[in-house]
Amino acid sequence: MRNAILCFVPVLTLCFASSQLKAESSSTEPEPELRKEAMNIVKIFSDTLKPKLKEAIQSGGIEHAIKVCSVEAPKIAYDLSAQTGWSIKRVSLKPRNTNNARPDTFERNILTKFDLHQAKSDSSTLLQYSEIVNNKYRYMKAQAVEGICLNCHGSSISADAKKTLNQYYPEDLATGYALGDIRGAFSLVKEL
Ligand code: HEC
Repeated sequence: MRNAILCFVPVLTLCFASSQLKAESSSTEPEPELRKEAMNIVKIFSDTLKPKLKEAIQSGGIEHAIKVCSVEAPKIAYDLSAQTGWSIKRVSLKPRNTNNARPDTFERNILTKFDLHQAKSDSSTLLQYSEIVNNKYRYMKAQAVEGICLNCHGSSISADAKKTLNQYYPEDLATGYALGDIRGAFSLVKEL
């Protein structure tokens, strides 16, 4: 059976089947246990990175935090992948790290759906999606823009921060976001 479900976690009644996705890819019912595992990994990722970012901003300002993020974010993804056996990354339709964060076709599709869904609703924080594709369990969770993110992803970034971003990410596309926008998503894959 094909089963493509896009939903807000706590409000299952809001779930809806995605007909476009159904037409494009074959899938089976996602595994609840794997989904739980994936959600847990995302939480660990987030709970590890966010405090580091906040601490870096407080101790050395935005430019320092950009440098910290450029090292810590890929490292957390790498370590978590090694520890769990899942492939773990963050992707975006407007990537900053163009080596790591460019979406594949599946991810692009889901990110576009997240954006469409977010445009119709106020709350994007819990938007997630899972599907089994080609014997792989794929899970994505949207990451919405909060106040702190605007320092480095907003539309009025300080000149110094811009300069540092240019140094580290000359192809950066990840600015111009507003509160509540979908910045990107965690994307997890487990071979079945
Ligand atoms: C201090 C600056 C800074 C802040 C604040 C910040 N980011 Fe980022 N963000 C970065 C940098 C630098 C990268 C690239 C990291 C890398 O090389 O993997 C990045 C990458 C990302 C990515 C991965 C996709 C991509 O484009 O490379 C996502 C998703 C993301 N940020 C979301 C957020 C969200 C959501 C917030 C707020 C909770 C946030 N960021 C706050 C600097 C920041």
